Formats: sequence, C-alpha cells, structure tokens
Amino acid sequence: MTREKFLLEKKVKEAILESQNKVIMVLGASDTGKTTLIEDLLGFLLEKYTVGVVDADLGQSHIGPPTTIAWAIFQRRFESWKKAAVKDFYFVGATSPAGCLLPTITGVKLMSDMAGQVTGKVIVDTTGMVGRGAGKILKICKIELIQPQIILALQKENELEPILGNFARMSTPLIFRLSVPSFVTQKVYGQRTSYRERKFRDYFNKSQKVALSLDKLGSKNALSEDYLYHRLVCLKSREGKNLALGIIDEIDEEKRKISVYTPLDKAEEIISIIPGKIRITLEGKEIY
Ligand SMILES: Nc1ncnc2c1ncn2[C@@H]1O[C@H](COP(=O)(O)OP(=O)(O)O)[C@@H](O)[C@H]1O
Ligand SMILES: [Mg+2]
Repeated sequence: MTREKFLLEKKVKEAILESQNKVIMVLGASDTGKTTLIEDLLGFLLEKYTVGVVDADLGQSHIGPPTTIAWAIFQRRFESWKKAAVKDFYFVGATSPAGCLLPTITGVKLMSDMAGQVTGKVIVDTTGMVGRGAGKILKICKIELIQPQIILALQKENELEPILGNFARMSTPLIFRLSVPSFVTQKVYGQRTSYRERKFRDYFNKSQKVALSLDKLGSKNALSEDYLYHRLVCLKSREGKNLALGIIDEIDEEKRKISVYTPLDKAEEIISIIPGKIRITLEGKEIY
C-alpha cells in the first residue's frame, strides 16, 4: 500500500543526512506521526547509513514487545517493523513511563549507546507522554542524557514548546519543528489496547512452559511479591543480558519450582526472573 510521505524541507533533510548529526530524537504527543516519520527517514538514510532505531514507546511498541525499550538495526532497505532485526531490549515492565521514569530513562540511554556503537545513525522514537508534569521532565532529561544532535518535533499546536524552550538558542540539539500532516489519524478508543494485545499475543505465540528451580534463581526476593500468577517477567542470563519476557504460570513453594511461559528456547540460560508491573494472559490481555 502506498501512503503519503512527510514533506521535509531541504535543510532538514540535509541536516539529518549530515554524518556529524548522529543521534536524532523524534518528539510528539500520541498519534502525531512519529513512527511513520521514522519510516520515511529510513527511506533515505539507509542509502548511506546503517541505522539503529531505539523504540522507547512502551505502550505502542514497533520494535520488541510492549513494556520494553528495544533497538533494531536497519540496513539497505526498510521493509516493515515486523521484520526488524531486534538487537537488544531493556525491560521497564509497564506500558507507560508514568511511575517508571527511572527505568525508562535508563533503558533509553543504554539502548541508544548500544545502537551508537555499531551504527552510523541512531533514531530515538519516544512515548507520547509530553504533558507539563512528568512527561515534560522525562523528555527534558532524555534530551540532556542522550544528547541528540537533532530533534524532530511533531506538534499540532505548541504543545512541545515547554520542552523545547529549555534548549532554545543552544547550538545543539538542532530543533526542527514539523506540523502533523493531515494523513496522520488519531487512534479511536480501544485501538491502543488491541494493538498492545496483538503485540503480546504475537510475542508469546510460540511459547513453551519451562520449569525452574526457585533455589537456583538469583531473584528470590524479587519473587516474594504478591500476585505473581500471570505476572509479566523478564528472564535474565548470568551475564545480565535480558534473554526474553515470560509470564508466570505457577509457583510451587513445596516443590520449590516456578513455571513460566516464554518463547525462549534456551531455558538453561535463565538465572534470574525480574517481575514487571503488569499481569497478562497468553493472549495478551491485561489482568487488573
Ligand atoms: N502517511 C500516512 N497515511 C495514512 N495514515 C497514516 C500515515 N501516517 C500515519 N498514519 C496513521 O496515523 C496514526 C498515527 O501515526 P504514528 O506514526 O503511529 O504516530 P505516533 O508514532 O506518533 O503515535 C497511525 O495509526 C496511522 O494509521
Ligand atoms: Mg509510534
């Protein structure tokens, strides 16, 4: 399907292509076209660069499952987000940065640095949380920590100005304000939830149940929380690598066993289980 493209001024495109402007951050409220804009950027950047895209949108993820900040490498041609080569992810454990600001910012920094080590360009997609409170502080801190050379700011009115104003008149980042094109549509009620469910469902589609010994896991304290049944968890390796997500099926205190559904096939690598904030079914439905 062909779709309309973002019209970028020549100076914006040139700045984006400039090799010194390595890190590009895309800001905007929900449904302002951030992810679609990134597809268009990949369209011309991939002719010259290998590009790492960091997806910091926890709820409406395109790279990796929701609740994670993942990054993927793109070479030569953008086909689809589904086919993206996911290189690594950081587990935040929630579908919104609200109440998880520190894990969110930690994840964005770690994933951007990783992407920057092996690619010539890094694009950071962000969450739509840009309001005056926590969203504003999160975005300002993200910019200060990641130090992008370019910010592409998609706004309908002036909703990003409280964030952008902090960087006014500074030589970096270069800020380009873009208006939201008319082809970008607002998602209707329920569309976000169903998108998220589908992403979880796809992720856990080929899961198997693995049983682990509670005594061999290095995360006994973390697993003493309430409501562990159906809890979304992150499975980690001895090296501290995030291996995959899982859903707790059962904990048998007597047999000292925990069973988890996960698409990971190398269960022997799991040495730690980190609980997230949400509980879900294998079909991706959140349990409240
Ligand atoms: N060029 C386009 N043509 C048609 N629909 C579009 C186009 N770009 C975006 N959309 C629609 O607008 C919505 C929001 O765009 P998206 O890039 O996902 O925004 P954001 O990443 O800011 O949430 C999408 O759900 C998509 O259906
Ligand atoms: Mg998006």
